[in-house]
Amino acid sequence: MDVTVIGTGRMGSALVRRLAKQGFNVYAWNRTKDRLKDLPARSIDDISQAKGLTFIFVSDDEALNAVRGVGGDIVALSGTYSIGAVTAFNIRFTSMGKGLLAAPVVGGPADVENGTAIYLIGGPESTYQRAKEVFDKLGSIIRLPTAEAAMALKLAYNSFLIGTMALLGEYVVLGRTYGVDDDTLRALLTKTVFKEVSEKYMDRVLKPKLPPSFTLALAAKDVHYAVKSAGDAKTPLVVSSIVKSLYELLAALGFGNEDYVRAGLLELIGGLKEK
Ligand SMILES: NC(=O)c1ccc[n+]([C@@H]2O[C@H](COP(=O)([O-])OP(=O)(O)OC[C@H]3O[C@@H](n4cnc5c(N)ncnc54)[C@H](OP(=O)(O)O)[C@@H]3O)[C@@H](O)[C@H]2O)c1
Repeated sequence: MDVTVIGTGRMGSALVRRLAKQGFNVYAWNRTKDRLKDLPARSIDDISQAKGLTFIFVSDDEALNAVRGVGGDIVALSGTYSIGAVTAFNIRFTSMGKGLLAAPVVGGPADVENGTAIYLIGGPESTYQRAKEVFDKLGSIIRLPTAEAAMALKLAYNSFLIGTMALLGEYVVLGRTYGVDDDTLRALLTKTVFKEVSEKYMDRVLKPKLPPSFTLALAAKDVHYAVKSAGDAKTPLVVSSIVKSLYELLAALGFGNEDYVRAGLLELIGGLKEK
């Protein structure tokens, strides 16, 4: 089966590698052509040449809005976008008689490449059945009735995760301030319900992962979309609004390319104090 990936950044390039390993005919398009060089895919010059199931993995709503006239029979929106942007794309695309799914991903580039990512797939069952043979080879699947519901679940999950990372950083900051060493901070968490969070994220909070697999700027964008999408439905997200402000502030201060897990660890702001 033909599959196309539009946007071969960290996630899109990992998806290209996964699809190629699973034996699909893979086509790829990226705005910056250099990023296509070493990928196991045939590059296309224009997005209208996309074939088969076409994944869109560009960064944000603005980039999604720039993707016009995309080819292929079915489009899967796999980046993280606001609900309003998904609805607008859905109306534009399905009016051309094509199938649309939202298929945002829980997991990073390594999960996508290794087949351990979770795909939240929303859209009509008939469209999903036509794309199922591809998704079955990508990772685990959670089905949602609509594209909007799938994106809402992704935004809800990311707000929860990103907020948790901010609080984990503040846990470290308060403990260290009063002389609690890192091993003790870790030991307490591993005796509680936060064991897995500690095992997966504590080292990453304490030492930067270089280069980051998910940037602080993209995390700021995700919480912004969560708060905006909830606000559009007159459902305020109070705590997420504060997390959004923290991430947007850090991005505005120039930390957008840092690993997103470090936002609560005020070494970042500490570094600023020294300037
Ligand atoms: N990284 C993660 O762990 C992760 C996990 C789950 C979901 N996501 C979501 O997946 C999406 C991609 O994330 P990523 O980490 O792969 O980001 P990334 O490495 O920064 O890649 C962004 C991609 O978007 C393209 N792009 C940006 N603006 C564009 C525009 N105006 N027109 C056309 N293409 C444009 C970039 O093209 P250029 O190469 O030309 O700049 C690049 O291909 C985001 O929505 C992100 O929130 C990421």
